[in-house]
Order: sequence, then structure tokens, then C-alpha cells
Amino acid sequence: MAYDPVVSKPAADGGTQRTPILVDCDTGIDDSLALLYAVASPDCDLVAVTCTSGNVDARQVAENTRAVLELAGRSDVEVAIGRETPLERALVTTPETHGPRGIGYAELPPARMPLSPRFGPDLIVEEARRRPGELTLVTLAPLTNVALAVLSEPKLPRLLRRIVIMGGSYRSPGNTAPTTEWNVNVDPEAAKIVFEAFDADGAEGSGVGSTGPGSTRPIALGLDVTERAKLLPHHLAEIAARAGCSPDGGGPDGRTNPVIRYLADALRFYMEFHSRYDHFFGAFIHDPLALATAIDPTLVRTEPVTVDVELDGRLTTGETVADWRRVWGRPPNVDVAVEADAGRFFERFIERVGDLARG
Ligand code: BDR
Ligand code: CA
Repeated sequence: MAYDPVVSKPAADGGTQRTPILVDCDTGIDDSLALLYAVASPDCDLVAVTCTSGNVDARQVAENTRAVLELAGRSDVEVAIGRETPLERALVTTPETHGPRGIGYAELPPARMPLSPRFGPDLIVEEARRRPGELTLVTLAPLTNVALAVLSEPKLPRLLRRIVIMGGSYRSPGNTAPTTEWNVNVDPEAAKIVFEAFDADGAEGSGVGSTGPGSTRPIALGLDVTERAKLLPHHLAEIAARAGCSPDGGGPDGRTNPVIRYLADALRFYMEFHSRYDHFFGAFIHDPLALATAIDPTLVRTEPVTVDVELDGRLTTGETVADWRRVWGRPPNVDVAVEADAGRFFERFIERVGDLARG
């Protein structure tokens, strides 16, 4: 089991040690829930957010990201836009999954906080260089920005403490094509660059290839485990109850709770989508599980494996091919999550987001 002994321990002054986290996202309903979870977590220091195209185009992602951070009272977090198209392919977005603007039926006031003047991939490199070995980069989107970052700074894998990737499907079907997951499918070339960059780094004997406690290999959460994070209406009701209001955000004083109202309207759309395509009224919240794992890697059990990305398949382009039987004889380059403690994750999600909503 991959276990990071450093995070979430009491700090020397008796407070909770906070994991510095940089998020790259394509907000997106479940991305927005991940941002709320990050802001709500006392053991997370949200350093900055970079935006790329995926669920919606990058401009809309940046708008949604800032609007959600403002909703959560964190207009101080730097938000930068990155590359607006995949490296080599035409951009495909997914309005049927996340709604035309990426936040389902929710309406948020236009963002007021300014967009960072920095280019997303530059921000990633600059922040990693500023605090070598400290930052955890969490990717909740196509890997376009991270690929550009690692191309401009090949030492990025060593400058980061760790990268946690929501992307791929390692032992289960895909959700975009039969064997491919959305984030990798949108920009498979970028995913290949990122997986290979960490692979090459390990081969140099930098320690990236080590196993067990202290491993700094990327942790990848594919659909195999993120689909364990199945949010159902009762979870939303529990968050609302903790916030002291009804599941549609109505409070006893007749006022609406804006965070619960946002969750209700965004999730109603996401649940309708899952009800049409996945045959249950609820939603897979992939991105919050990845974010929570970046803060506390004990939420998942991982196995080291060599992963490569199919670029030339007739039916399989974007597939994350995992060499479970080690037939390639190449060293593992990814710690792939094979199990997740969904119960513990949901307990924390309800508690933290409920408390954030209560204000
Ligand atoms: C991933 O695809 C996106 O639609 C979600 O936000 C998540 O990051 C799941 O395949
Ligand atoms: Ca996402």
C-alpha cells in the first residue's frame, strides 16, 4: 500500500500540517466539488489553480473556477489559464455531462477576482521551483498544461513532491470510448508525455522509481476507483443538514444557503446525466476523490505498474495500457489506485463541505 507518512500529521506548533496543493482542472461539476473540498480542508493549503480546456473551453473553466472559489470565500487564490486546446487534436467538450457552461443548472454571479497574468504551465514550473520537493500537483483534467510544463522544465518530476492524476482506466471499461477515460481521451499525447517524463526521471535513479513509503511516483486514480465515489441524494441531504438547511438550500430563516443551492443545482444536472448513461440517480465524483487522495494518500491502495498511452489505435486511442503482468520488463512508472476507501472519503466530504456551507 502506498502510504505517505508526512501528510496530515500534527505540525510542530500543534496545528494540523497543511499539504501545499496546486490544482490543474477543467471545471466541470466534479472539479468544482473538488475545489470546495480543498478550500474546506484544514489540512490543505490551496496554492493556486491552473485551467485547461476539457469539460468546457478553458475561458469558461477559468470563469467557473473563480466563481466557485468566490462562492467559497477564497477570492485570494491565484487562478491562471493555460493552453486552450489539446496539443495535437481538436478540442471536444462535454456539455451533455456538465451542462453548457460546465456547472449544470447552477447560476453563479460573474467572477470578480482577476485572472492571473501568468500562463498556466509557467505557473506550475515557477511554483515548483520556488519550493522544491514541497508541492503536490493534482490534475483533474486533460494533461495539456502539465505536458507543457514538463517539456519546458524536464526536472519537474523531481521539483514536485508528488503528482496525483485523475485520469485513465486501468482495470475497467472507459467512459468516453469502450476503453478510454475522458481526461486522457481529450489529450492523449499530453498524457503520454507526462507518464513518460516521470518514467524517464525514475530511470535516472532520482528516487522517483522507488516503491513503498516515501514513493514519489505519480498516483493515478482511474475510473476503477473513482467510480467508487458514487454520490447519492442522501449524501447531499447530509451535507445540507450539517449546514443547517434543506437539500435545495432553503434555510429555517427563509434565506438560501448559496453553497448548498449551488451543489443542488449543479448536482441535479450531473445526476440526470448519470441516470441516462449509467442507470443510477446519483453521480460519480471522480475529482474530489483524487483531491482528497492528494491530501491523504491512505484513502487509496495502490500498485506500482508500467503505464503507457495508446496513440495510434483504430478503436483504442487514449487507452491507458497497464502492464500488470510485467511483460514489457520496464520499471513501473505509476502507482495506480486499485482500491479506495469510499466510506471514509464520503464521511470527510460531508463533514468538510457541510461545515464550509454552514459558514
Ligand atoms: C473526468 O472527466 C471529467 O468529465 C470529470 O471532470 C473528471 O475529471 C472523469 O472521466
Ligand atoms: Ca475534471
